[in-house]
Amino acid sequence: MAAPDLERRLKEEMRLLALGGHVGFDSLPDQLVSKSISQGFSFNILCVGETGIGKSTLMNTLFNTIFETEESGHYETCVRLRPRTYDLQESNVHLKLTIVDAVGFGDQINKDERPIVDYIDTQFENYLQEELKIQRSLFDYHDTRIHVCLYFITPTGHSLKSLDLVTMKKLDSKVNIIPIIAKADTISKSELHKFKNKIMSELEKNGVQIYQFPTDDEAVAEINAVMNAHLPFAVVGSTDEVKVGNKLVRARQYPWGVVQVENESHCDFVKLREMLIRVNMEDLREQTHSRHYELYRRHKLEEMGFQDTAAESKPISLQETYETRRKEFLCELQKKEEEMRQMFVNKVKETELELKEKEKELHERFETLKRTHQEEKRKVEEKRLQLEEEKLAFNRRKAAVEAMQAQAFQATSQQPLRRDKDKKKTSGWSSIYSVTIS
Ligand code: GTP
Ligand code: MG
Repeated sequence: MAAPDLERRLKEEMRLLALGGHVGFDSLPDQLVSKSISQGFSFNILCVGETGIGKSTLMNTLFNTIFETEESGHYETCVRLRPRTYDLQESNVHLKLTIVDAVGFGDQINKDERPIVDYIDTQFENYLQEELKIQRSLFDYHDTRIHVCLYFITPTGHSLKSLDLVTMKKLDSKVNIIPIIAKADTISKSELHKFKNKIMSELEKNGVQIYQFPTDDEAVAEINAVMNAHLPFAVVGSTDEVKVGNKLVRARQYPWGVVQVENESHCDFVKLREMLIRVNMEDLREQTHSRHYELYRRHKLEEMGFQDTAAESKPISLQETYETRRKEFLCELQKKEEEMRQMFVNKVKETELELKEKEKELHERFETLKRTHQEEKRKVEEKRLQLEEEKLAFNRRKAAVEAMQAQAFQATSQQPLRRDKDKKKTSGWSSIYSVTIS
Protein backbone atom coordinates (compact mmCIF):
# COMPACT_ATOMS: atom_id res chain seq x y z
CA MET A 1 0.00 0.00 0.00
CA ALA A 2 1.31 3.47 -0.91
CA ALA A 3 2.38 5.68 2.03
CA PRO A 4 -0.25 8.50 1.52
CA ASP A 5 -3.10 5.90 1.39
CA LEU A 6 -1.85 4.30 4.59
CA GLU A 7 -1.67 7.70 6.28
CA ARG A 8 -5.25 8.55 5.22
CA ARG A 9 -6.57 5.21 6.50
CA LEU A 10 -4.81 5.64 9.84
CA LYS A 11 -6.32 9.13 10.18
CA GLU A 12 -9.77 7.77 9.44
CA GLU A 13 -9.32 5.01 12.01
CA MET A 14 -8.01 7.42 14.71
CA ARG A 15 -10.61 8.77 17.11
CA LEU A 16 -10.38 11.73 19.41
CA LEU A 17 -11.03 10.66 23.01
CA ALA A 18 -11.44 12.76 26.14
CA LEU A 19 -9.39 11.77 29.22
CA GLY A 20 -11.16 11.21 32.53
CA GLY A 21 -8.36 12.84 34.53
CA HIS A 22 -4.65 13.88 34.52
CA VAL A 23 -2.44 11.14 33.05
CA GLY A 24 0.90 12.91 32.88
CA PHE A 25 2.17 12.78 29.30
CA ASP A 26 1.94 16.57 29.17
CA SER A 27 5.36 16.44 30.82
CA LEU A 28 6.91 15.06 27.62
CA PRO A 29 8.35 18.45 26.54
CA ASP A 30 9.91 18.86 30.01
CA GLN A 31 11.37 15.34 29.77
CA LEU A 32 12.82 16.29 26.42
CA VAL A 33 14.32 19.49 27.84
CA SER A 34 15.91 17.76 30.81
CA LYS A 35 17.30 15.02 28.58
CA SER A 36 18.80 17.58 26.21
CA ILE A 37 20.28 19.53 29.12
CA SER A 38 21.92 16.44 30.58
CA GLN A 39 23.22 15.46 27.14
CA GLY A 40 24.66 18.93 26.44
CA PHE A 41 24.88 20.69 23.08
CA SER A 42 27.47 21.15 20.45
CA PHE A 43 27.80 24.09 18.12
CA ASN A 44 30.43 24.49 15.45
CA ILE A 45 31.31 27.78 13.80
CA LEU A 46 33.52 28.12 10.74
CA CYS A 47 35.18 31.54 10.32
CA VAL A 48 36.19 32.37 6.77
CA GLY A 49 37.86 35.66 6.02
CA GLU A 50 41.23 37.07 5.14
CA THR A 51 44.04 37.22 7.70
CA GLY A 52 43.60 39.98 10.29
CA ILE A 53 39.99 40.78 9.31
CA GLY A 54 38.87 40.48 12.96
CA LYS A 55 37.67 36.86 13.23
CA SER A 56 39.15 36.07 16.63
CA THR A 57 38.13 39.43 18.11
CA LEU A 58 34.53 38.89 17.00
CA MET A 59 34.43 35.37 18.51
CA ASN A 60 35.76 36.73 21.80
CA THR A 61 33.17 39.52 21.70
CA LEU A 62 30.30 37.14 20.83
CA PHE A 63 30.97 34.70 23.65
CA ASN A 64 32.25 37.34 26.04
CA THR A 65 35.43 35.49 26.80
CA ILE A 66 39.00 35.25 25.56
CA PHE A 67 39.57 32.15 23.49
CA GLU A 68 43.17 31.14 22.96
CA THR A 69 44.26 32.76 19.75
CA GLU A 70 47.27 32.65 17.61
CA GLU A 71 47.79 35.30 14.98
CA SER A 72 48.32 33.94 11.50
CA GLY A 73 51.13 35.17 9.30
CA HIS A 74 50.51 36.39 5.78
CA TYR A 75 52.88 33.82 4.33
CA GLU A 76 51.07 30.51 4.92
CA THR A 77 51.87 28.15 2.05
CA CYS A 78 48.28 26.91 1.78
CA VAL A 79 44.84 27.25 3.34
CA ARG A 80 44.66 25.21 6.54
CA LEU A 81 41.64 24.54 8.74
CA ARG A 82 42.33 24.94 12.47
CA PRO A 83 39.58 23.68 14.80
CA ARG A 84 39.59 24.48 18.51
CA THR A 85 36.99 23.06 20.90
CA TYR A 86 35.94 24.65 24.19
CA ASP A 87 33.54 23.56 26.93
CA LEU A 88 31.33 26.48 27.92
CA GLN A 89 28.64 26.62 30.55
CA GLU A 90 25.79 29.09 31.06
CA SER A 91 23.36 28.36 33.94
CA ASN A 92 23.04 24.57 33.76
CA VAL A 93 23.52 24.34 29.98
CA HIS A 94 26.77 22.88 28.66
CA LEU A 95 27.92 23.89 25.21
CA LYS A 96 30.75 22.18 23.37
CA LEU A 97 31.80 25.01 21.06
CA THR A 98 34.16 24.42 18.17
CA ILE A 99 35.60 27.39 16.31
CA VAL A 100 37.27 26.51 13.04
CA ASP A 101 39.56 29.09 11.46
CA ALA A 102 40.37 28.95 7.75
CA VAL A 103 43.99 30.03 8.19
CA GLY A 104 45.67 31.64 5.20
CA PHE A 105 42.47 32.06 3.17
CA GLY A 106 42.49 35.00 0.75
CA ASP A 107 46.16 35.71 1.34
CA GLN A 108 48.25 36.46 -1.71
CA ILE A 109 48.17 33.24 -3.76
CA ASN A 110 46.37 31.17 -1.11
CA LYS A 111 42.98 31.77 -2.58
CA ASP A 112 41.83 28.20 -2.74
CA GLU A 113 38.44 27.33 -1.23
CA ARG A 114 38.90 23.56 -1.74
CA PRO A 115 40.40 22.82 1.70
CA ILE A 116 37.32 24.45 3.28
CA VAL A 117 34.91 22.36 1.19
CA ASP A 118 36.93 19.21 1.96
CA TYR A 119 36.89 19.96 5.69
CA ILE A 120 33.09 20.33 5.72
CA ASP A 121 32.68 17.10 3.72
CA THR A 122 35.03 15.23 6.03
CA GLN A 123 32.88 16.13 9.05
CA PHE A 124 29.76 14.88 7.21
CA GLU A 125 31.60 11.71 6.23
CA ASN A 126 32.66 11.05 9.84
CA TYR A 127 29.04 11.40 10.98
CA LEU A 128 27.80 9.12 8.18
CA GLN A 129 30.37 6.48 9.08
CA GLU A 130 29.21 6.60 12.70
CA GLU A 131 25.58 6.28 11.55
CA LEU A 132 26.38 3.28 9.36
CA LYS A 133 28.22 1.41 12.12
CA ILE A 134 26.48 -1.66 13.53
CA GLN A 135 27.23 -0.44 17.03
CA ARG A 136 26.48 3.27 16.78
CA SER A 137 27.06 5.69 19.59
CA LEU A 138 25.46 8.85 18.23
CA PHE A 139 24.29 9.74 21.73
CA ASP A 140 27.78 10.65 22.94
CA TYR A 141 29.27 11.20 19.49
CA HIS A 142 31.15 14.50 19.22
CA ASP A 143 29.35 16.03 16.28
CA THR A 144 31.86 18.16 14.38
CA ARG A 145 29.62 19.07 11.44
CA ILE A 146 29.78 22.81 10.75
CA HIS A 147 26.53 24.49 11.81
CA VAL A 148 27.30 27.96 10.54
CA CYS A 149 29.89 29.67 8.40
CA LEU A 150 30.51 33.29 9.30
CA TYR A 151 31.82 34.79 6.09
CA PHE A 152 33.83 37.94 6.85
CA ILE A 153 33.59 40.49 4.04
CA THR A 154 36.33 43.13 3.81
CA PRO A 155 34.80 46.62 4.26
CA THR A 156 35.93 47.98 0.90
CA GLY A 157 32.69 49.85 0.20
CA HIS A 158 32.96 48.75 -3.44
CA SER A 159 31.65 45.31 -4.21
CA LEU A 160 32.30 41.68 -3.34
CA LYS A 161 35.57 40.20 -4.55
CA SER A 162 35.19 37.38 -7.05
CA LEU A 163 36.94 35.09 -4.52
CA ASP A 164 34.10 35.80 -2.06
CA LEU A 165 31.44 34.96 -4.64
CA VAL A 166 33.18 31.78 -5.82
CA THR A 167 33.78 30.56 -2.27
CA MET A 168 30.27 31.27 -1.04
CA LYS A 169 28.81 29.58 -4.14
CA LYS A 170 30.89 26.47 -3.43
CA LEU A 171 29.84 26.43 0.22
CA ASP A 172 26.15 27.35 0.05
CA SER A 173 24.86 23.79 -0.47
CA LYS A 174 27.05 22.46 2.35
CA VAL A 175 26.70 24.93 5.18
CA ASN A 176 24.53 27.77 6.51
CA ILE A 177 26.31 30.95 5.44
CA ILE A 178 25.87 34.19 7.34
CA PRO A 179 27.78 36.98 5.58
CA ILE A 180 29.07 39.77 7.79
CA ILE A 181 30.87 43.00 7.00
CA ALA A 182 33.87 43.05 9.32
CA LYS A 183 35.43 46.16 10.90
CA ALA A 184 32.29 48.13 10.06
CA ASP A 185 33.69 51.12 11.99
CA THR A 186 36.06 51.75 9.07
CA ILE A 187 33.27 52.61 6.66
CA SER A 188 30.85 55.57 6.78
CA LYS A 189 27.13 55.08 7.43
CA SER A 190 25.95 56.08 3.93
CA GLU A 191 28.66 53.98 2.26
CA LEU A 192 27.72 51.05 4.46
CA HIS A 193 24.09 51.23 3.39
CA LYS A 194 25.06 51.20 -0.30
CA PHE A 195 27.64 48.47 0.31
CA LYS A 196 25.04 46.21 1.97
CA ASN A 197 22.62 46.64 -0.95
CA LYS A 198 25.38 45.99 -3.45
CA ILE A 199 26.45 42.80 -1.65
CA MET A 200 22.90 41.46 -1.49
CA SER A 201 22.21 42.16 -5.17
CA GLU A 202 25.51 40.54 -6.18
CA LEU A 203 24.75 37.46 -4.11
CA GLU A 204 21.32 37.22 -5.68
CA LYS A 205 22.64 37.79 -9.20
CA ASN A 206 25.15 34.98 -8.76
CA GLY A 207 22.64 32.60 -7.21
CA VAL A 208 24.43 32.36 -3.85
CA GLN A 209 22.05 30.97 -1.20
CA ILE A 210 22.81 32.49 2.17
CA TYR A 211 21.11 31.37 5.37
CA GLN A 212 17.68 32.91 5.90
CA PHE A 213 16.41 33.20 9.46
CA PRO A 214 13.29 30.97 9.56
CA THR A 215 9.90 32.61 9.49
CA ASP A 216 7.73 29.50 9.88
CA ASP A 217 7.75 29.53 13.69
CA GLU A 218 5.22 32.12 14.85
CA ALA A 219 7.18 32.97 17.98
CA VAL A 220 10.19 34.24 16.03
CA ALA A 221 8.72 34.86 12.57
CA GLU A 222 8.45 38.62 12.95
CA ILE A 223 11.92 39.28 14.39
CA ASN A 224 13.52 36.89 11.91
CA ALA A 225 11.80 38.54 8.94
CA VAL A 226 13.04 41.97 10.10
CA MET A 227 16.57 40.62 10.61
CA ASN A 228 16.65 38.97 7.17
CA ALA A 229 16.26 42.47 5.73
CA HIS A 230 19.35 43.64 7.67
CA LEU A 231 21.72 41.09 6.14
CA PRO A 232 24.68 41.23 5.81
CA PHE A 233 25.32 42.37 9.37
CA ALA A 234 27.97 45.05 9.72
CA VAL A 235 29.88 44.27 12.90
CA VAL A 236 32.53 45.73 15.13
CA GLY A 237 34.45 43.56 17.56
CA SER A 238 36.27 44.53 20.73
CA THR A 239 36.90 43.10 24.16
CA ASP A 240 38.21 46.42 25.51
CA GLU A 241 35.97 48.19 27.99
CA VAL A 242 35.55 51.95 27.78
CA LYS A 243 33.70 54.19 30.24
CA VAL A 244 30.69 55.81 28.55
CA GLY A 245 28.72 58.01 30.95
CA ASN A 246 29.01 56.06 34.17
CA LYS A 247 28.91 52.62 32.54
CA LEU A 248 31.71 50.41 31.27
CA VAL A 249 30.92 49.18 27.77
CA ARG A 250 32.78 47.14 25.18
CA ALA A 251 33.94 49.56 22.55
CA ARG A 252 36.71 50.76 20.30
CA GLN A 253 38.08 54.12 21.27
CA TYR A 254 39.32 56.58 18.66
CA PRO A 255 40.68 60.12 19.00
CA TRP A 256 37.38 61.43 17.62
CA GLY A 257 35.05 59.24 19.68
CA VAL A 258 33.97 55.79 20.80
CA VAL A 259 32.39 53.00 18.71
CA GLN A 260 30.23 50.93 21.03
CA VAL A 261 29.99 47.28 20.08
CA GLU A 262 26.56 46.77 21.63
CA ASN A 263 25.04 50.03 20.46
CA GLU A 264 22.64 49.23 17.61
CA SER A 265 23.06 52.67 16.09
CA HIS A 266 26.82 52.05 15.85
CA CYS A 267 26.82 48.52 14.37
CA ASP A 268 24.85 45.27 13.94
CA PHE A 269 26.79 43.25 16.55
CA VAL A 270 23.73 42.85 18.81
CA LYS A 271 21.60 41.71 15.86
CA LEU A 272 24.20 39.09 14.95
CA ARG A 273 24.45 37.82 18.54
CA GLU A 274 20.68 37.75 18.86
CA MET A 275 20.15 35.85 15.63
CA LEU A 276 23.12 33.50 15.88
CA ILE A 277 23.05 32.56 19.54
CA ARG A 278 19.82 33.59 21.21
CA VAL A 279 17.14 32.90 18.57
CA ASN A 280 18.37 30.60 15.80
CA MET A 281 21.16 28.41 17.20
CA GLU A 282 18.86 25.36 17.27
CA ASP A 283 17.56 26.10 13.77
CA LEU A 284 21.12 26.29 12.47
CA ARG A 285 21.83 22.89 14.05
CA GLU A 286 18.64 21.45 12.61
CA GLN A 287 19.21 22.88 9.12
CA THR A 288 22.69 21.41 9.14
CA HIS A 289 21.28 17.97 9.90
CA SER A 290 18.09 17.99 7.84
CA ARG A 291 19.28 19.93 4.80
CA HIS A 292 23.01 19.95 4.30
CA TYR A 293 23.89 16.60 5.88
CA GLU A 294 20.84 14.97 4.26
CA LEU A 295 22.04 16.17 0.84
CA TYR A 296 25.53 14.82 1.48
CA ARG A 297 24.15 11.50 2.76
CA ARG A 298 21.80 11.14 -0.22
CA HIS A 299 24.59 11.74 -2.75
CA LYS A 300 26.89 9.38 -0.90
CA LEU A 301 24.33 6.56 -0.69
CA GLU A 302 23.35 7.06 -4.34
CA GLU A 303 27.03 6.88 -5.23
CA MET A 304 27.15 3.57 -3.37
CA GLY A 305 24.22 2.37 -5.50
CA PHE A 306 21.37 2.70 -2.98
CA GLN A 307 18.02 4.18 -3.98
CA ASP A 308 14.51 4.50 -2.55
CA THR A 309 12.58 3.69 -5.72
CA ALA A 310 13.24 1.13 -8.41
CA ALA A 311 11.95 1.20 -12.00
CA GLU A 312 8.37 2.53 -12.45
CA SER A 313 8.73 4.43 -9.15
CA LYS A 314 8.20 1.24 -7.16
CA PRO A 315 9.51 1.61 -3.61
CA ILE A 316 12.55 -0.50 -2.93
CA SER A 317 13.92 -1.36 0.50
CA LEU A 318 17.55 -1.14 1.56
CA GLN A 319 17.59 -4.92 1.87
CA GLU A 320 16.35 -5.35 -1.72
CA THR A 321 18.87 -2.83 -3.03
CA TYR A 322 21.59 -4.61 -1.12
CA GLU A 323 20.55 -7.99 -2.55
CA THR A 324 20.37 -6.60 -6.11
CA ARG A 325 23.75 -4.95 -5.76
CA ARG A 326 25.20 -8.15 -4.30
CA LYS A 327 23.86 -10.20 -7.22
CA GLU A 328 25.16 -7.63 -9.71
CA PHE A 329 28.52 -7.71 -7.99
CA LEU A 330 28.67 -11.51 -8.02
CA CYS A 331 27.69 -11.57 -11.72
CA GLU A 332 30.37 -9.06 -12.51
CA LEU A 333 32.88 -11.05 -10.49
CA GLN A 334 31.97 -14.23 -12.38
CA LYS A 335 32.25 -12.42 -15.70
CA LYS A 336 35.66 -11.10 -14.70
CA GLU A 337 36.74 -14.57 -13.59
CA GLU A 338 35.60 -16.08 -16.91
CA GLU A 339 37.44 -13.35 -18.81
CA MET A 340 40.60 -14.00 -16.80
CA ARG A 341 40.31 -17.76 -17.39
CA GLN A 342 39.85 -17.22 -21.13
CA MET A 343 42.78 -14.87 -21.17
CA PHE A 344 44.92 -17.47 -19.40
CA VAL A 345 43.90 -20.22 -21.86
CA ASN A 346 44.67 -17.96 -24.82
CA LYS A 347 48.02 -17.07 -23.35
CA VAL A 348 48.89 -20.75 -22.83
CA LYS A 349 47.84 -21.52 -26.41
CA GLU A 350 49.93 -18.67 -27.73
CA THR A 351 52.96 -19.83 -25.74
CA GLU A 352 52.44 -23.40 -26.93
CA LEU A 353 52.35 -22.27 -30.55
CA GLU A 354 55.46 -20.18 -30.05
CA LEU A 355 57.27 -23.15 -28.50
CA LYS A 356 56.24 -25.44 -31.35
CA GLU A 357 57.47 -22.87 -33.86
CA LYS A 358 60.78 -22.68 -32.01
CA GLU A 359 61.06 -26.47 -31.91
CA LYS A 360 60.45 -26.66 -35.68
CA GLU A 361 63.09 -24.05 -36.29
CA LEU A 362 65.58 -25.95 -34.13
CA HIS A 363 64.79 -29.19 -35.91
CA GLU A 364 65.37 -27.58 -39.30
CA ARG A 365 68.64 -26.14 -38.11
CA PHE A 366 69.69 -29.55 -36.82
CA GLU A 367 68.82 -31.19 -40.16
CA THR A 368 70.82 -28.58 -42.08
CA LEU A 369 73.79 -29.05 -39.77
CA LYS A 370 73.51 -32.80 -40.12
CA ARG A 371 73.47 -32.53 -43.92
CA THR A 372 76.49 -30.20 -43.91
CA HIS A 373 78.33 -32.55 -41.60
CA GLN A 374 77.60 -35.58 -43.79
CA GLU A 375 78.74 -33.68 -46.89
CA GLU A 376 81.96 -32.71 -45.19
CA LYS A 377 82.47 -36.25 -43.94
CA ARG A 378 81.99 -37.54 -47.49
CA LYS A 379 84.53 -35.02 -48.82
CA VAL A 380 87.07 -35.97 -46.15
CA GLU A 381 86.54 -39.68 -47.00
CA GLU A 382 87.15 -38.98 -50.70
CA LYS A 383 90.28 -37.06 -49.80
CA ARG A 384 91.43 -39.91 -47.59
CA LEU A 385 90.89 -42.48 -50.37
CA GLN A 386 92.75 -40.27 -52.80
CA LEU A 387 95.64 -39.92 -50.39
CA GLU A 388 95.54 -43.66 -49.78
CA GLU A 389 95.87 -44.29 -53.52
CA GLU A 390 98.69 -41.78 -53.77
CA LYS A 391 100.43 -43.51 -50.90
CA LEU A 392 100.12 -46.90 -52.60
CA ALA A 393 101.46 -45.49 -55.85
CA PHE A 394 104.33 -43.93 -53.99
CA ASN A 395 105.11 -47.18 -52.19
CA ARG A 396 105.06 -49.01 -55.53
CA ARG A 397 107.47 -46.52 -57.01
CA LYS A 398 109.65 -46.72 -53.90
CA ALA A 399 109.77 -50.55 -54.12
CA ALA A 400 110.70 -50.34 -57.81
CA VAL A 401 113.49 -47.90 -57.03
CA GLU A 402 114.77 -50.08 -54.21
CA ALA A 403 114.77 -53.13 -56.50
CA MET A 404 116.70 -51.24 -59.10
CA GLN A 405 119.16 -50.08 -56.45
CA ALA A 406 119.62 -53.69 -55.33
CA GLN A 407 120.26 -54.81 -58.89
CA ALA A 408 122.74 -52.05 -59.37
CA PHE A 409 124.53 -52.97 -56.19
CA GLN A 410 124.78 -56.60 -57.30
CA ALA A 411 126.23 -55.62 -60.65
CA THR A 412 128.80 -53.41 -58.93
CA SER A 413 130.01 -56.23 -56.67
CA GLN A 414 130.53 -58.61 -59.70
CA GLN A 415 132.66 -56.11 -61.79
CA PRO A 416 135.10 -54.39 -59.37
CA LEU A 417 137.43 -53.28 -62.13
CA ARG A 418 134.93 -51.18 -63.88
CA ARG A 419 134.45 -48.98 -60.70
CA ASP A 420 134.69 -45.67 -62.40
CA LYS A 421 132.19 -46.59 -65.04
CA ASP A 422 129.84 -48.10 -62.40
CA LYS A 423 130.23 -45.06 -60.19
CA LYS A 424 128.98 -43.03 -63.04
CA LYS A 425 126.11 -45.51 -63.43
CA THR A 426 125.31 -45.41 -59.66
CA SER A 427 125.21 -41.65 -59.67
CA GLY A 428 123.01 -41.97 -62.72
CA TRP A 429 120.61 -44.25 -60.70
CA SER A 430 120.74 -41.84 -57.73
CA SER A 431 119.67 -39.04 -59.96
CA ILE A 432 116.87 -41.28 -61.33
CA TYR A 433 115.91 -42.15 -57.73
CA SER A 434 115.86 -38.55 -56.63
CA VAL A 435 113.80 -37.60 -59.66
CA THR A 436 111.31 -40.39 -58.95
CA ILE A 437 110.87 -39.35 -55.28
CA SER A 438 110.35 -35.76 -56.16
P1 GTP B 1 44.07 36.03 12.04
O1 GTP B 1 43.54 35.00 12.95
O2 GTP B 1 45.52 36.33 12.28
O3 GTP B 1 43.75 35.79 10.62
O4 GTP B 1 43.36 37.42 12.39
P2 GTP B 1 41.87 37.62 12.80
O5 GTP B 1 41.02 37.63 11.60
O6 GTP B 1 41.51 36.69 13.87
O7 GTP B 1 41.89 39.11 13.33
P3 GTP B 1 42.04 39.58 14.84
O8 GTP B 1 40.78 39.38 15.57
O9 GTP B 1 43.27 39.00 15.40
O10 GTP B 1 42.19 41.16 14.62
C1 GTP B 1 43.22 41.71 13.87
C2 GTP B 1 43.31 43.21 14.17
O11 GTP B 1 42.10 43.85 13.80
C3 GTP B 1 43.50 43.49 15.65
O12 GTP B 1 44.39 44.57 15.77
C4 GTP B 1 42.12 43.92 16.13
O13 GTP B 1 42.16 44.82 17.21
C5 GTP B 1 41.57 44.58 14.91
N1 GTP B 1 40.10 44.50 14.88
C6 GTP B 1 39.36 43.46 15.21
N2 GTP B 1 38.05 43.74 15.06
C7 GTP B 1 38.01 45.03 14.61
C8 GTP B 1 36.95 45.91 14.27
O14 GTP B 1 35.77 45.58 14.34
N3 GTP B 1 37.28 47.16 13.85
C9 GTP B 1 38.56 47.56 13.75
N4 GTP B 1 38.80 48.78 13.34
N5 GTP B 1 39.58 46.76 14.06
C10 GTP B 1 39.31 45.51 14.49
MG1 MG C 1 42.48 34.91 14.54
